[in-house]
Amino acid sequence: MKKIQISPSILSADFSQLGNEIKRLEEGGADLIHVDVMDGHFVPNLTIGPPVIKSLKKKCSLKFDVHLMISPVHKYIEIFSNAGADIITIHPEATEDLDASISKIKELGKKAGVSLNPETEVDVIKNYLSQIDLVLIMSVNPGFGGQKFMPEVLDKIRELKNIQKRQNIDFDIEIDGGINFENSKIAIKAGANILVSGTTIFKSNNGDIKKNIDLLKSS
Ligand code: DX5
Ligand code: ZN
Repeated sequence: MKKIQISPSILSADFSQLGNEIKRLEEGGADLIHVDVMDGHFVPNLTIGPPVIKSLKKKCSLKFDVHLMISPVHKYIEIFSNAGADIITIHPEATEDLDASISKIKELGKKAGVSLNPETEVDVIKNYLSQIDLVLIMSVNPGFGGQKFMPEVLDKIRELKNIQKRQNIDFDIEIDGGINFENSKIAIKAGANILVSGTTIFKSNNGDIKKNIDLLKSS
């Protein structure tokens, strides 16, 4: 059983204090920093880009788990790699050539992730699973924090676990969206080993980040 990792989403952080917020996450026991990049085109929201990632990297020794909800994405892969992304996760619908985009991320020495929206089936990426390091299962429709968890996506995690066993391949399974202290247990049981959380980590227990990360880790 893989160690459960917590990747807090800074989308729920105080954007006027981002440097201090990621320091709090690192001190609070986060394993990764989940950075939601949105372009207002692939998703109906607009967040941060490479310059912010570059400056935040100087404040934190954790790896940056960068979730690119942008399209077209291929031409931005190198830019985010140079900005300091350690894991670069893209959506299959955002590139004309998923194979080329995954290869580009790997050529740059970064971990390659592919993200499935709630309505996107595992079949879409089944031919790429041996090439990637991580599958990000969206349990909300991407674009905003604080949405309600969609339990139906757990079947995709179970399907991925079966494929891992059948094909003897390995990759991380990360779940993202509406994760709280209850559904985190079900997500881990289904086979997720990385939990993304924004609202639960930043807003629960009067914003006690360390307590909230510990509670998720002990799911
Ligand atoms: C949504 C983002 C998620 C989101 C998670 O598009 O990809 O990472 O910020 O936030 P919560 O945990 O609040 O659902
Ligand atoms: Zn995300």
